[in-house]
Amino acid sequence: MNMIDVKVAAIKQVTPLIKHFTFVKEDGSELPSFSGGSHIVVALDADGRTYRNPYSLMGSPTETDAYHISVRRQENSRGGSAFMHENVSVGMTLKITHPVNLFTLAKMAHKHILIAGGIGITPFMSQIEDLKRLGVEYELHYAFRSYAQAAFVDELKKSCGSSLYCYGDSDGERLDMQGLLSWQPLGTHVYVCGPSPMVVSVIETARNLGWPEHSIHNEQFLSPPVGEPFKVQLAKSEIEVEVPAEMSMLEAIEAAGVKAEYLCRGGVCGRCELGVLEHDGGLEHHDHFLTESEKASCRKIMPCVSRSKGKRLLLDL
Ligand code: FES
Repeated sequence: MNMIDVKVAAIKQVTPLIKHFTFVKEDGSELPSFSGGSHIVVALDADGRTYRNPYSLMGSPTETDAYHISVRRQENSRGGSAFMHENVSVGMTLKITHPVNLFTLAKMAHKHILIAGGIGITPFMSQIEDLKRLGVEYELHYAFRSYAQAAFVDELKKSCGSSLYCYGDSDGERLDMQGLLSWQPLGTHVYVCGPSPMVVSVIETARNLGWPEHSIHNEQFLSPPVGEPFKVQLAKSEIEVEVPAEMSMLEAIEAAGVKAEYLCRGGVCGRCELGVLEHDGGLEHHDHFLTESEKASCRKIMPCVSRSKGKRLLLDL
């Protein structure tokens, strides 16, 4: 994948756990254009390995002189978010991928209901710019633990005005999902990004209320989970790769110098799919891409998030 060199132009501590990073091209030229909901992958060399983490682009898609991302420091970080918080400083050069949009706004929708939980607000920050520019009706529902820990509330109030609805859990404010999704005009689409229980709740509520499947959208990138170490044999490349506990299979394959495809690195897009030729104990599927029967067949795996349950895998790569 072609990478772009960017310089860290600014870093702002937005909340105790969230930092906002601004990237520019070193020569001051424009960055590639993108649409609301796009993400980039940031590559970081640290501790003798390369972390590649996806982050949503937050700024206005019409302003490509800089890219903006926000990174929440994860409690159980394998290193990527901790490194971004502790070691990345203004003036550093980083490598990023071109933007890819796996969370697009439906062009034919008459109204958009955007539902964010915590750091899940980030993809909506660029989407609302597109919606405002197009003059399409929308509501942004933003739920968080407390106002003290919530990022970008003031900016969103200015930007969205009466289209913004906030819910601070510690203030006893709750989003009535059933009520919200019960009375929407025909042609409304709903989008959700946030913690898994929230995403599941929105999808199930909308389905139970009879919303058409094509009008329910979610972004649910996963961080690769930590697991037991195992070995991967790559049949075509004819090499064996060790996958340590704290590394994803995709990262281990890349570290061995083998080219592997990816887009989201979060178990959503399907781009990294590999054929499984042999396994000795089953597969630990974590992705949202394969169907249940494909998972049960153990013939395919998404190496960005999934692992082996046994000690050894033979892959068609
Ligand atoms: S890179 Fe998207 S599912 Fe693995």
